[in-house]
Amino acid sequence: MGKRIVVVGTQWGDEGKGKITDYLALDADVVVRSQGGNNAGHTINFNNQKFALHFIPSGVFNPQTKNIMANGMVIEPIALFREIDELASRGITNYQLYISDRAHCIMPYHLELDSLWEDIKGSSAVGTTKKGIGPAYADKASRIGIRLADLLDPESLMDGLKTGLAMTNPILECFHHQTYDLQDLYQKYLSFGKRLKPYITDTSVLLNAEIEKGSKILFEGAQGIMLCVEHGTYPYVTSSSPTAASVPMNCGISPMAITDVIGITKAYTTRVGSGSFPTEFEDDTAKYIREKGHEYGTTTGRPRRIGWLDTVALRHAKRVSGITELSVMLLDVLTGIPQIKICTQYELDGEIIDRVPSNYRQFSQCKPVYVTLPGWKENITNIHRFDELPINAQNYLKAIENYTGLPIAIFSIGPDRTQTIALKAFFK
Ligand code: IMP
Repeated sequence: MGKRIVVVGTQWGDEGKGKITDYLALDADVVVRSQGGNNAGHTINFNNQKFALHFIPSGVFNPQTKNIMANGMVIEPIALFREIDELASRGITNYQLYISDRAHCIMPYHLELDSLWEDIKGSSAVGTTKKGIGPAYADKASRIGIRLADLLDPESLMDGLKTGLAMTNPILECFHHQTYDLQDLYQKYLSFGKRLKPYITDTSVLLNAEIEKGSKILFEGAQGIMLCVEHGTYPYVTSSSPTAASVPMNCGISPMAITDVIGITKAYTTRVGSGSFPTEFEDDTAKYIREKGHEYGTTTGRPRRIGWLDTVALRHAKRVSGITELSVMLLDVLTGIPQIKICTQYELDGEIIDRVPSNYRQFSQCKPVYVTLPGWKENITNIHRFDELPINAQNYLKAIENYTGLPIAIFSIGPDRTQTIALKAFFK
């Protein structure tokens, strides 16, 4: 039987999932994106080229791999076409892409509403990527969304647009935002449907057939568990669930189908957008990490906020998402920092706690309890084995295993595919 591995981000996104997915995708028959949309930005470096994927799964660089965008995703056709065209302009055309007919369409009014909601929230704005993600998922839950299958059926599209606009235009008008014309959208989205048609299919049927065949399948997570709408730092979260538990529902497969869950974590923590995180700090060391780790958003270019590794959050991620092993990214970025901290617990109102409070106000009052480990100075970007790491770097990784109770299966020492040290075989 081929393994079915889920890759999940354990922090607030941007953990380096794209790199690990790309690495594992070399051996996978199928790569699947199951939730989110182009709020994600997965960076892949190989052959001295850098690619940023937002919608398209990271298996597109291998012509033999099937790439699936599953039903749990929300898809903005114009941005997707831009991504397809950008890949084509760099010679990447020979790939297999399948998009679920049940995936929801991000409409232009969702983009408008995303900005509007943020404006109304003012100082408590989420700091969204403004890609229309929240409003598209809200329409899905309100049963007024438009699915990709509707773009292939003129009557369904017309019905969907009529309802969508009847609900949305009055709100936009009320806040003096641009409203949308039914006929105009209808023509545009019919033509988008024509371009998307070759890709659109029932991906649940396809995926179940692959499982039946024993294919090796990789589920590429987007965002991170601390951004989960259920288990994250609500309301400063995204609108879908990036946990491994959400994968079966978002793909139309059995919950028993998942065999392994790899949690991806940076060797430190970052966050973009609003919402506190206990280990955040801003000093020269944070600046050093931001510059060395190129900690600027792939999707929005915003500088990322920097913090030490938070193992309370990692244990939370492990519990709610059934993580079986860790991949520690960007270890090389910490080289040259004399003292490295790891958060082991929080202090809240004078009490030591070992969990992430559900109440956001309480979460923002949590103070990290740290252990401090000595750093290392040696360049680690060219090593090939764990025991070639300086002893302090080895001890840092061992401390992460100790505080999370999870084995480290991979660590990464630079942006290139070759700078990935796997301590076990995955799809073998
Ligand atoms: P939305 O997903 O655009 O609604 O944004 C909600 C929150 O999730 C914001 O704080 C975003 O910065 C954050 N977010 C969404 N997607 C990603 C991602 O892929 N990486 C990091 N942060 C993300």
